[in-house]
Amino acid sequence: MKKSVSLKKILREINSSVNRCVAKKKPVTLYEPMRYLMDNGGKRIRAMLLLLCTSMYSKNYKKAMPAAAAIELLHAFSLIHDDIMDNDDLRRGQLTIHRKWDTSVAILSGDALAALAYRTLRELPPSLQDRILDLFTETFVGLCEGQALDKEFENQREVKESEYLTMIGQKTALLFSTSARIGAIIGGASAAHVKSLGLFGYNLGMAFQIQDDLLDVTGDERMLGKEVGSDLIEGKKSYVSILAAKDNRGRGMLDTFRTMKNTAVRRETLESFRKYLRVSGIQVKAETKTEAYLSAAEKQLAAFKNTPAKASLLEIAGIVRERQS
Ligand code: IPE
Ligand code: IPE
Ligand code: MG
Ligand code: MG
Ligand code: MG
Repeated sequence: MKKSVSLKKILREINSSVNRCVAKKKPVTLYEPMRYLMDNGGKRIRAMLLLLCTSMYSKNYKKAMPAAAAIELLHAFSLIHDDIMDNDDLRRGQLTIHRKWDTSVAILSGDALAALAYRTLRELPPSLQDRILDLFTETFVGLCEGQALDKEFENQREVKESEYLTMIGQKTALLFSTSARIGAIIGGASAAHVKSLGLFGYNLGMAFQIQDDLLDVTGDERMLGKEVGSDLIEGKKSYVSILAAKDNRGRGMLDTFRTMKNTAVRRETLESFRKYLRVSGIQVKAETKTEAYLSAAEKQLAAFKNTPAKASLLEIAGIVRERQS
């Protein structure tokens, strides 16, 4: 296959575009938290996906940059509010905004990021705006629906695998799918191609979230930049927890996480839970499920010509496959 489009170069371009959207301004308690999050990492995987889908059709992928920036701004909004909802202290290797400042600052800087995303979409060619704004808005609503289900499930004793898959489809995979679809639309793809690339994004997003759930238990806190075990403490219905809840031993450990406040006990239980995931075969099940979604994503690209953009999209799937952060 031909040489891929440089992901490093695209990443630099996305970062400078996002930074322009969150320019230095007063009031400091609104803009500083936004810059604090945006300037300090983030893989920008959704924005890269979007730009690569444009570059499947056009050399000038930069015309999609406002959309790529808008997707990252919406994603960042969702992270800030998600950290309040999930009671988390760490994001991208530093204190979450509601911990470093307070909850009001986090709510408001998150709100403003979503507003800035819409402002940025207005920089797209007018002929594309209606379609993209509709897609973006429906995705925003869907993401909120997914987050609502995520919270509802915390207090539900039993959640079926199918219910869990619907929930992550909304909270995570939808934004991946929309990123790919918007990129393809800006590139001028046919309806059939928009659909295929959207499915590529959707399957990638499903794999991404199942893996995220596994990394919450098995990951390395420093690499991840987030607290390990946080989902268990909050009683999240993650891919691994719904499988563990099916047997007595797993359910017992999940209950311990929810009820024990002692950090030493929690640390020990996390260690035992890691072992339990390995011996029970749950870890392999999660890895197999992730791999199934990744292959389904890659299959969507099979009918496309072998171009540098396609090679880069496959590279993104490879990054998701290997990710530890
Ligand atoms: C975190 O997304 C939220 C999930 C859907 C799991 P990322 O892992 O893409 O977060 P950043 O942007 O790289 O920090
Ligand atoms: C992420 O789910 C979904 C959204 C942010 C919309 P998680 O709650 O698992 O994400 P992390 O683990 O906090 O990044
Ligand atoms: Mg979270
Ligand atoms: Mg969450
Ligand atoms: Mg998570």
